[in-house]
Amino acid sequence: MIDAIVRLIREIVISWLIRLFASSDIVRWQMLKLIADEIREKNIDGSIAELGVYKGDFAKLINEQFPEKKLYLFDTFDGFDERDIKTEVKIGGYGKKNDFKNNNIELVMKKMKYPNNCIIKKGWFPESGNGVEDRFLFVSIDTDLFEPTYHGLKFFYDRLEKGGYIFVHDYNGKLFGAKQAVRKFSKEYNIPYVPLSDLCGSVVFSK
Ligand SMILES: C[S@@+](CC[C@H](N)C(=O)[O-])C[C@H]1O[C@@H](n2cnc3c(N)ncnc32)[C@H](O)[C@@H]1O
Repeated sequence: MIDAIVRLIREIVISWLIRLFASSDIVRWQMLKLIADEIREKNIDGSIAELGVYKGDFAKLINEQFPEKKLYLFDTFDGFDERDIKTEVKIGGYGKKNDFKNNNIELVMKKMKYPNNCIIKKGWFPESGNGVEDRFLFVSIDTDLFEPTYHGLKFFYDRLEKGGYIFVHDYNGKLFGAKQAVRKFSKEYNIPYVPLSDLCGSVVFSK
């Protein structure tokens, strides 16, 4: 019993520390800045998106980097979906039912420097992508799970402009699903990616 309580407390503290450090991940932030400069200098038209927004901490940085671009914010805003957790359990990945629940869109929007650029797409992805016909310049995929990462890559790579980039978070972190999804997508479509040295081991795809 005491062992179980100690394990639980340790897990809570570790996940809290990961979130604290991940929200101040300088390498991830610098990569975003360099890529935003690159896109600005190439002067290409298109939109920006984040799939997996949670409280908007990375979305806020994205929004600041692209003051003139539409920013789609895709999230259930109510945590993981049962349909995705089923797959995660099957592949031996991570997926706790109550993680990221009870989110608040108003609080997310308050963090945005250019809120008028933001388009909230609340709901389960890929369904929430229906009807979105934009071309994209930069997309951050950060859902932790296999299904939305894999479908996000298919959806956004197809709509990525030449000269655009997709970040996928947690490839080299402890989240097994994101890594498997990146590898499956890359192998199936023969599209290479580059691992980054940020805290949770993102990868970047480009076109
Ligand atoms: C790790 S958090 C995102 C963290 C955020 N990008 C940041 O850096 O602060 C993962 C988010 O993905 C969302 N998510 C997971 N699966 C999803 C799906 N199928 N459709 C929409 N959102 C999903 C969850 O609701 C959660 O808010």
